[in-house]
Amino acid sequence: MNVRAPLDMPIDAALPTPALSYENGRHVVYEADCLEIMPRLPGESVDMIFADPPYFLSNGGITCKAGKMVSVNKGRWDQSLGFEGNYEFTHNWITACRRLLKPDGSIWISGTSHIIHIVGCCLEEIGFKILNDITWVKTNPPPNLSCRYFTHATETIIWAARDKKSRHRFNYDLMRRLNGGKQMLSVWAIDAPRSAEKTFGKHPTQKPLALLERLIAASTLENDLVLDPFSGSCTTGIAAARLNRRFIGIELDRNFIELGAKRFKAEALHAGLSPLLQAAMPSRNVRNNDVGKLFGEIANGT
Ligand SMILES: C[S@@+](CC[C@H](N)C(=O)[O-])C[C@H]1O[C@@H](n2cnc3c(N)ncnc32)[C@H](O)[C@@H]1O
Repeated sequence: MNVRAPLDMPIDAALPTPALSYENGRHVVYEADCLEIMPRLPGESVDMIFADPPYFLSNGGITCKAGKMVSVNKGRWDQSLGFEGNYEFTHNWITACRRLLKPDGSIWISGTSHIIHIVGCCLEEIGFKILNDITWVKTNPPPNLSCRYFTHATETIIWAARDKKSRHRFNYDLMRRLNGGKQMLSVWAIDAPRSAEKTFGKHPTQKPLALLERLIAASTLENDLVLDPFSGSCTTGIAAARLNRRFIGIELDRNFIELGAKRFKAEALHAGLSPLLQAAMPSRNVRNNDVGKLFGEIANGT
């Protein structure tokens, strides 16, 4: 039996109750394996997907955090399954995402060299049209302790449309305005999350809110539905809510969902809408009305 939910889509009654549900069900997070939930969501129902999947880099190496040598290991979910296992997992979840996207929908997938080439290969194989590969430059990267490599200071985010013939949404004018009247480049310099975004605890691979707000603002409209199959501490959900988009998240680990719940209440429900929303639609009355500062920061190269 199908029931109609506030997300405005028929939901399979066999779906579990979401672990989190806000604003009368406009934003929900399921505690589950995304490969179990995605096949139960209705096809062609999602406008945009952001996925920050396991990068499979938890290989026992070391890195530097706050001046201290620490393990790079993020958790069991990030341990490599071997090339073939990593490939099969990536192929499966991207295939499941494609079924959910509307014909003109698009997907953004982040990664480092450990996984991004497999991601690109799967996108091509499954029939997506690659639109851009964004280079996210971290302005505060940790030093390379081995001194045998350049300091890793970037991640790639591939943006792809569902089909070769998709007429994907790109809010070109908004992006140009945010970039001081010049075309926005595919190189984005944005700080990794600083302590203000970690008030309630730490997720080992938390993405900055500014990154998520930018890519959601670039490729969706208000009330569009955004999905994140690896939602972690709910950064995508918070950015979606602050931009007045709907959100479905899926996350395996209850601890990360609980962290996401605290963040969602403070950073979305209490903090209000994003200044970006007013930039997109200046007539809107946005509580957090600091657009001038935002324009300044972006024009200055962030
Ligand atoms: C790279 S992190 C995402 C972090 C997130 N972008 C944030 O800002 O907090 C990947 C997350 O996916 C979760 N995960 C791993 N495999 C999963 C699966 N099969 N289904 C759902 N979640 C999964 C992990 O627990 C982890 O929190």
